[in-house]
Amino acid sequence: CLLFAGTANPALAAAIAAELGVRTAACAIERFPDGEVSVRLDESVRDREVYLVQPTAPPVNDHLVELLAFADACRRSAAGRITAIVPYFGYARSDKRHGRREPIAASLVARLMQAVGVGHVVTVDLHAAQIEGFFHIPVDSLTAVPTLCRPLKDWLPTGAVVVSPDVGRVQMATDYAHRLGIQVVVLHKRRSSGTETEVTHVVGDVRGRPCLIIDDMISTGGTIARAVEALLAAGARPEITVAATHGLFVGEARRRLGHEAVLRVLVTDSVVAADPAWPSLQIVSVAP
Ligand code: R5P
Repeated sequence: CLLFAGTANPALAAAIAAELGVRTAACAIERFPDGEVSVRLDESVRDREVYLVQPTAPPVNDHLVELLAFADACRRSAAGRITAIVPYFGYARSDKRHGRREPIAASLVARLMQAVGVGHVVTVDLHAAQIEGFFHIPVDSLTAVPTLCRPLKDWLPTGAVVVSPDVGRVQMATDYAHRLGIQVVVLHKRRSSGTETEVTHVVGDVRGRPCLIIDDMISTGGTIARAVEALLAAGARPEITVAATHGLFVGEARRRLGHEAVLRVLVTDSVVAADPAWPSLQIVSVAP
């Protein structure tokens, strides 16, 4: 088989290659001055199993088009089977129509991937499990929760509770709770825009408790920031740990996560790498 690295996260592709004891295959991926993507495979893929590591992280559209162009190049070069390793699946939050006259972008992405010959998709903590149903090819939706729980077992203070920041994440919070042997608290979140949310209710007792807030992704950090405020207002101890599978950290996210009560932010390397300028950010790898 051949493992190629897209430009979205070459470090993760290298870590996966190291785990497998293979090298990353040769290709050239560039941008033309007008922003168009250019892909060239520098070795034969004829009849080979081809894997492309390309999370469709921000800039989502660039990385998605690159993945599509790459798969198209493979298909036209007679590749045997093309597997897209997309640890972070962009557009996953558009899994249904939230109102009239809107697209279902996750379905559109699924159709595009299949149209260019992707035969198998591997992803991690897909925002909504039902997205798998938009594909008619195999989709392996893996979870990073066991990997994230490993350091949390050592870090979490006694009496901690796991907090789901909205009802959509209750199942994931329950998985954390089972693995860590702690209880679940649920927040009711109302989203007023792409960057602003508010917490209307805290369901469960957090008085005097350290909290672990979990989520599948941190984008602008608004969800976590509002959750921190709501938990502190409800009497939680100012000892908060945040764990999420995908750290996109767009816009004001770093500032929003800089609250003094937030002791640690733990994410995987699906999108970001460690940053010496942000010492409370901890990374675990999904490469294994
Ligand atoms: C929403 O349902 C997701 O699970 C995340 O809570 C959300 O996308 C995080 O976005 P942000 O960091 O911008 O609040």
